[in-house]
Amino acid sequence: MIRSEVEKVKENFEGLRDEIKSCQKCELCRTRKNPVFGEGDENARILFVGEAPGRVEDEKGMPFVGHSGKLLDRMLAAVGLNRNEGIFITNIIKCRPPNNMDPVEEQQKACSVYLKRQIELIDPKIIICLGRIAAYNLLGPEYRVTKDHGRIQERDGVYVMGMFHPAALLRSNQYKEEAFKDFLILKEFLKRFDGPNLEDSKSS
Ligand code: URA
Repeated sequence: MIRSEVEKVKENFEGLRDEIKSCQKCELCRTRKNPVFGEGDENARILFVGEAPGRVEDEKGMPFVGHSGKLLDRMLAAVGLNRNEGIFITNIIKCRPPNNMDPVEEQQKACSVYLKRQIELIDPKIIICLGRIAAYNLLGPEYRVTKDHGRIQERDGVYVMGMFHPAALLRSNQYKEEAFKDFLILKEFLKRFDGPNLEDSKSS
């Protein structure tokens, strides 16, 4: 990429960050401590999208830094990945819903433009939806994580896969093994992406 293009991307990224910092599109702006823009490699190949910041994330202004985040880091490490390399992590909702309530439809709608712009700027090779709310937004209302997780689909030229939310894995051991397999699928996808057989992953 030529230098002027790089600068343009950075400028837009910072502009979007500032916009989210002062966002008042929904009532969550009144109770948040810090909006959580997201964090990671701005040219990431993998974009993880969770639901919404929790208490620790709200305090620190960073995504997935509480118990769920620690588990996410361990699962990434298990397949040789690391959140600081080639990965960007964000959420559907940028501000914490009080008492960790599920974000309501209007909040999701109000925030969706920010994720859309992040996807355009980052231009990831694959988006991983962590849990039901992210999958609902990016893969549609019919998507069921328990049934459809681990399946890579193409949406508007980007590959998208749903996975279990780490918080669900912390609540029960039931899906841990399947969740680990999904990370192996991701790892395989990346290998194939680097190799000649990218087309194969569309049907897997
Ligand atoms: N759960 C999420 O969905 N996102 C976070 O950032 C933290 C916990």
